[in-house]
Amino acid sequence: MVSPELAIIPRHVAIIMDGNGRWANKRGLPRTIGHSKGVEAVRETVKAAADAGVEYLTLFAFSSENWSRPETEVNDLLGLLRKFIRRDLAELHRENVRIRVIGEREKLRGDILPLLLEAEETTRHNTSLTLVIAFNYGSRDEIVRAVTKLAREVEAGKLSADGITAQLIGEQLDTADIPDPDLIIRTSGEERLSNFLLWQAAYSELLFVPDYWPDFDRNRFFDALKVFASRDRRFGGLSAKTAAAGG
Ligand code: IPE
Ligand code: IPE
Ligand code: MG
Repeated sequence: MVSPELAIIPRHVAIIMDGNGRWANKRGLPRTIGHSKGVEAVRETVKAAADAGVEYLTLFAFSSENWSRPETEVNDLLGLLRKFIRRDLAELHRENVRIRVIGEREKLRGDILPLLLEAEETTRHNTSLTLVIAFNYGSRDEIVRAVTKLAREVEAGKLSADGITAQLIGEQLDTADIPDPDLIIRTSGEERLSNFLLWQAAYSELLFVPDYWPDFDRNRFFDALKVFASRDRRFGGLSAKTAAAGG
Protein backbone atom coordinates (compact mmCIF):
# COMPACT_ATOMS: atom_id res chain seq x y z
CA MET A 1 0.00 0.00 0.00
CA VAL A 2 1.28 3.42 -0.91
CA SER A 3 0.89 6.17 1.71
CA PRO A 4 -1.11 9.31 0.79
CA GLU A 5 2.00 11.52 0.70
CA LEU A 6 3.27 9.32 -2.14
CA ALA A 7 0.04 9.76 -4.03
CA ILE A 8 1.81 10.90 -7.19
CA ILE A 9 4.08 8.03 -8.13
CA PRO A 10 6.49 8.76 -10.97
CA ARG A 11 6.01 6.38 -13.84
CA HIS A 12 9.70 6.39 -14.67
CA VAL A 13 12.58 6.97 -12.24
CA ALA A 14 16.13 7.14 -13.58
CA ILE A 15 19.17 7.03 -11.32
CA ILE A 16 22.78 8.13 -11.80
CA MET A 17 24.36 5.77 -9.29
CA ASP A 18 27.42 7.77 -8.25
CA GLY A 19 29.90 7.71 -5.39
CA ASN A 20 31.00 4.08 -5.12
CA GLY A 21 34.67 5.07 -5.20
CA ARG A 22 34.32 7.81 -2.59
CA TRP A 23 32.28 5.51 -0.34
CA ALA A 24 35.22 3.08 -0.37
CA ASN A 25 37.91 5.78 -0.03
CA LYS A 26 36.21 7.16 3.06
CA ARG A 27 36.63 3.73 4.64
CA GLY A 28 40.18 3.16 3.42
CA LEU A 29 38.92 0.36 1.15
CA PRO A 30 39.72 -0.27 -2.53
CA ARG A 31 37.25 1.26 -5.00
CA THR A 32 36.19 -2.19 -6.15
CA ILE A 33 34.59 -2.85 -2.74
CA GLY A 34 32.52 0.29 -3.25
CA HIS A 35 31.33 -1.09 -6.57
CA SER A 36 30.30 -4.44 -5.07
CA LYS A 37 28.46 -2.65 -2.26
CA GLY A 38 26.76 -0.65 -5.00
CA VAL A 39 25.27 -3.85 -6.42
CA GLU A 40 23.50 -4.45 -3.10
CA ALA A 41 22.00 -0.98 -3.35
CA VAL A 42 20.83 -1.88 -6.86
CA ARG A 43 19.00 -4.96 -5.56
CA GLU A 44 17.30 -2.99 -2.80
CA THR A 45 16.31 -0.15 -5.12
CA VAL A 46 14.82 -2.49 -7.73
CA LYS A 47 12.63 -4.06 -5.04
CA ALA A 48 11.61 -0.68 -3.64
CA ALA A 49 10.69 0.63 -7.09
CA ALA A 50 8.59 -2.44 -7.85
CA ASP A 51 6.85 -2.19 -4.46
CA ALA A 52 6.12 1.50 -4.99
CA GLY A 53 4.43 0.78 -8.30
CA VAL A 54 7.01 2.59 -10.44
CA GLU A 55 6.73 1.23 -13.99
CA TYR A 56 10.23 1.99 -15.28
CA LEU A 57 13.50 2.18 -13.35
CA THR A 58 16.56 3.17 -15.36
CA LEU A 59 19.97 2.66 -13.78
CA PHE A 60 23.10 4.26 -15.23
CA ALA A 61 25.49 1.34 -14.88
CA PHE A 62 28.35 2.27 -17.22
CA SER A 63 28.79 5.32 -19.39
CA SER A 64 30.38 5.55 -22.80
CA GLU A 65 33.04 7.68 -21.06
CA ASN A 66 33.73 5.19 -18.27
CA TRP A 67 36.03 3.24 -20.62
CA SER A 68 38.60 5.95 -19.88
CA ARG A 69 39.06 4.60 -16.34
CA PRO A 70 42.06 2.33 -15.55
CA GLU A 71 41.67 -1.08 -17.18
CA THR A 72 41.50 -2.87 -13.83
CA GLU A 73 38.54 -0.75 -12.73
CA VAL A 74 36.77 -1.22 -16.08
CA ASN A 75 37.26 -4.98 -15.69
CA ASP A 76 35.89 -4.85 -12.13
CA LEU A 77 32.78 -3.02 -13.32
CA LEU A 78 32.22 -5.41 -16.24
CA GLY A 79 32.78 -8.36 -13.91
CA LEU A 80 30.14 -7.07 -11.51
CA LEU A 81 27.61 -6.60 -14.30
CA ARG A 82 28.28 -10.15 -15.48
CA LYS A 83 27.89 -11.48 -11.95
CA PHE A 84 24.71 -9.47 -11.42
CA ILE A 85 23.06 -10.87 -14.51
CA ARG A 86 24.20 -14.44 -13.87
CA ARG A 87 23.11 -14.39 -10.22
CA ASP A 88 20.04 -12.19 -10.29
CA LEU A 89 18.42 -12.90 -13.64
CA ALA A 90 16.44 -15.92 -12.40
CA GLU A 91 15.12 -14.04 -9.39
CA LEU A 92 14.25 -10.91 -11.39
CA HIS A 93 12.43 -13.16 -13.85
CA ARG A 94 10.51 -14.81 -10.99
CA GLU A 95 9.56 -11.36 -9.77
CA ASN A 96 8.14 -10.62 -13.22
CA VAL A 97 10.71 -7.85 -13.87
CA ARG A 98 11.33 -7.03 -17.53
CA ILE A 99 14.90 -6.07 -18.39
CA ARG A 100 15.78 -3.60 -21.13
CA VAL A 101 19.23 -2.42 -22.07
CA ILE A 102 20.03 0.99 -23.57
CA GLY A 103 23.40 2.13 -24.91
CA GLU A 104 25.66 1.38 -27.85
CA ARG A 105 25.78 -2.36 -28.60
CA GLU A 106 27.49 -2.80 -31.95
CA LYS A 107 31.02 -2.23 -30.69
CA LEU A 108 30.77 -4.37 -27.55
CA ARG A 109 33.17 -7.30 -27.49
CA GLY A 110 33.20 -10.56 -25.55
CA ASP A 111 30.45 -12.13 -23.50
CA ILE A 112 28.78 -8.96 -22.19
CA LEU A 113 26.47 -8.40 -25.16
CA PRO A 114 25.21 -12.02 -25.28
CA LEU A 115 24.50 -11.83 -21.53
CA LEU A 116 22.57 -8.57 -21.89
CA LEU A 117 20.60 -10.00 -24.81
CA GLU A 118 19.81 -13.12 -22.80
CA ALA A 119 18.50 -10.98 -19.93
CA GLU A 120 16.27 -9.03 -22.32
CA GLU A 121 15.07 -12.15 -24.11
CA THR A 122 14.31 -14.15 -20.94
CA THR A 123 12.26 -11.39 -19.39
CA ARG A 124 10.66 -9.79 -22.45
CA HIS A 125 7.09 -10.86 -21.64
CA ASN A 126 7.22 -9.88 -17.98
CA THR A 127 4.71 -7.32 -16.85
CA SER A 128 5.88 -5.90 -13.55
CA LEU A 129 8.68 -3.27 -13.27
CA THR A 130 10.76 -2.60 -16.38
CA LEU A 131 14.40 -2.35 -15.30
CA VAL A 132 16.32 -0.37 -17.90
CA ILE A 133 20.07 -0.91 -17.67
CA ALA A 134 22.05 1.90 -19.27
CA PHE A 135 25.28 0.22 -20.28
CA ASN A 136 27.92 1.73 -22.59
CA TYR A 137 25.39 4.55 -22.64
CA GLY A 138 26.07 8.17 -23.55
CA SER A 139 23.32 10.54 -24.57
CA ARG A 140 25.32 12.30 -27.27
CA ASP A 141 26.31 8.98 -28.81
CA GLU A 142 22.65 7.90 -28.72
CA ILE A 143 21.53 11.12 -30.42
CA VAL A 144 24.25 10.84 -33.07
CA ARG A 145 23.16 7.26 -33.84
CA ALA A 146 19.51 8.38 -34.08
CA VAL A 147 20.26 11.34 -36.33
CA THR A 148 22.49 9.21 -38.57
CA LYS A 149 19.59 6.77 -39.12
CA LEU A 150 17.32 9.65 -40.12
CA ALA A 151 19.99 11.16 -42.39
CA ARG A 152 20.27 7.79 -44.16
CA GLU A 153 16.51 7.80 -44.76
CA VAL A 154 16.73 11.31 -46.18
CA GLU A 155 19.64 10.21 -48.39
CA ALA A 156 17.60 7.26 -49.60
CA GLY A 157 14.70 9.57 -50.44
CA LYS A 158 12.40 7.87 -47.91
CA LEU A 159 12.09 10.97 -45.73
CA SER A 160 12.19 14.70 -46.44
CA ALA A 161 14.38 16.98 -44.32
CA ASP A 162 11.26 18.97 -43.40
CA GLY A 163 9.63 15.76 -42.21
CA ILE A 164 12.03 15.50 -39.26
CA THR A 165 10.19 16.11 -36.01
CA ALA A 166 11.00 15.74 -32.32
CA GLN A 167 8.78 12.67 -32.29
CA LEU A 168 10.71 11.08 -35.14
CA ILE A 169 14.03 11.70 -33.39
CA GLY A 170 12.60 10.26 -30.15
CA GLU A 171 11.54 7.14 -32.04
CA GLN A 172 15.13 6.48 -33.19
CA LEU A 173 16.58 6.71 -29.68
CA ASP A 174 17.38 3.61 -27.61
CA THR A 175 14.48 4.64 -25.36
CA ALA A 176 11.95 4.70 -28.25
CA ASP A 177 9.28 2.70 -26.42
CA ILE A 178 10.10 3.98 -22.92
CA PRO A 179 8.39 7.08 -21.49
CA ASP A 180 10.63 10.02 -20.55
CA PRO A 181 11.86 9.90 -16.95
CA ASP A 182 9.65 11.80 -14.54
CA LEU A 183 12.35 11.86 -11.89
CA ILE A 184 16.13 11.67 -12.24
CA ILE A 185 18.07 11.08 -9.03
CA ARG A 186 21.84 11.48 -8.75
CA THR A 187 23.61 10.32 -5.63
CA SER A 188 26.95 11.46 -4.14
CA GLY A 189 26.30 15.21 -4.12
CA GLU A 190 27.45 15.81 -7.69
CA GLU A 191 24.99 18.00 -9.56
CA ARG A 192 25.36 17.19 -13.23
CA LEU A 193 23.89 14.80 -15.78
CA SER A 194 27.19 13.39 -17.13
CA ASN A 195 25.72 12.65 -20.59
CA PHE A 196 22.68 10.77 -19.21
CA LEU A 197 19.29 10.94 -20.98
CA LEU A 198 19.86 14.53 -22.18
CA TRP A 199 17.03 14.47 -24.72
CA GLN A 200 14.65 12.54 -22.48
CA ALA A 201 15.32 14.78 -19.44
CA ALA A 202 13.66 17.82 -21.05
CA TYR A 203 10.95 17.97 -18.34
CA SER A 204 12.28 15.55 -15.74
CA GLU A 205 12.39 16.59 -12.12
CA LEU A 206 16.01 16.46 -10.92
CA LEU A 207 16.97 15.39 -7.43
CA PHE A 208 20.55 15.47 -6.15
CA VAL A 209 21.09 13.63 -2.90
CA PRO A 210 24.29 13.68 -0.81
CA ASP A 211 24.48 9.94 -0.09
CA TYR A 212 27.05 7.83 -1.87
CA TRP A 213 25.39 5.13 -3.96
CA PRO A 214 26.30 2.16 -1.67
CA ASP A 215 24.36 3.93 1.13
CA PHE A 216 21.25 4.36 -1.00
CA ASP A 217 18.42 2.15 0.17
CA ARG A 218 14.68 1.58 0.28
CA ASN A 219 14.05 4.49 2.69
CA ARG A 220 16.05 6.93 0.61
CA PHE A 221 14.18 5.79 -2.49
CA PHE A 222 10.84 6.42 -0.78
CA ASP A 223 12.13 9.80 0.47
CA ALA A 224 12.90 10.69 -3.15
CA LEU A 225 9.35 9.73 -4.15
CA LYS A 226 8.04 12.07 -1.45
CA VAL A 227 10.10 14.95 -2.80
CA PHE A 228 8.82 14.17 -6.29
CA ALA A 229 5.21 14.21 -5.08
CA SER A 230 5.75 17.72 -3.66
CA ARG A 231 7.10 19.17 -6.92
CA ASP A 232 4.95 21.33 -9.17
CA ARG A 233 5.44 20.24 -12.78
CA ARG A 234 4.35 22.80 -15.32
CA PHE A 235 5.72 21.68 -18.70
CA GLY A 236 5.83 25.30 -19.84
CA GLY A 237 2.20 25.93 -18.91
CA LEU A 238 0.67 27.09 -15.65
CA SER A 239 0.41 24.97 -12.55
CA ALA A 240 -3.03 23.68 -11.67
CA LYS A 241 -2.93 25.91 -8.55
CA THR A 242 -2.07 29.11 -10.43
CA ALA A 243 -4.65 28.42 -13.11
CA ALA A 244 -7.39 27.81 -10.50
CA ALA A 245 -6.55 31.11 -8.77
CA GLY A 246 -7.06 32.93 -12.05
CA GLY A 247 -3.44 33.83 -12.67
C1 IPE B 1 29.64 5.11 -9.71
O1 IPE B 1 30.63 5.34 -8.77
C2 IPE B 1 29.89 3.86 -10.53
C3 IPE B 1 30.17 4.14 -11.94
C4 IPE B 1 30.37 5.32 -12.47
C5 IPE B 1 30.22 3.00 -12.82
P1 IPE B 1 32.03 6.00 -9.15
O2 IPE B 1 32.97 4.92 -9.52
O3 IPE B 1 31.87 7.06 -10.17
O4 IPE B 1 32.44 6.61 -7.76
P2 IPE B 1 33.13 8.02 -7.48
O5 IPE B 1 32.32 9.04 -8.21
O6 IPE B 1 34.52 7.92 -8.01
O7 IPE B 1 33.06 8.18 -6.00
C1 IPE C 1 28.19 8.83 -14.24
O1 IPE C 1 29.10 8.85 -13.20
C2 IPE C 1 28.16 7.47 -14.87
C3 IPE C 1 27.54 6.39 -14.09
C4 IPE C 1 26.95 6.55 -12.94
C5 IPE C 1 27.56 5.08 -14.70
P1 IPE C 1 30.62 9.30 -13.39
O2 IPE C 1 31.26 9.17 -12.07
O3 IPE C 1 31.22 8.57 -14.52
O4 IPE C 1 30.46 10.84 -13.80
P2 IPE C 1 31.48 12.05 -13.71
O5 IPE C 1 32.74 11.61 -14.42
O6 IPE C 1 31.74 12.31 -12.27
O7 IPE C 1 30.79 13.18 -14.38
MG1 MG D 1 31.60 9.05 -10.11
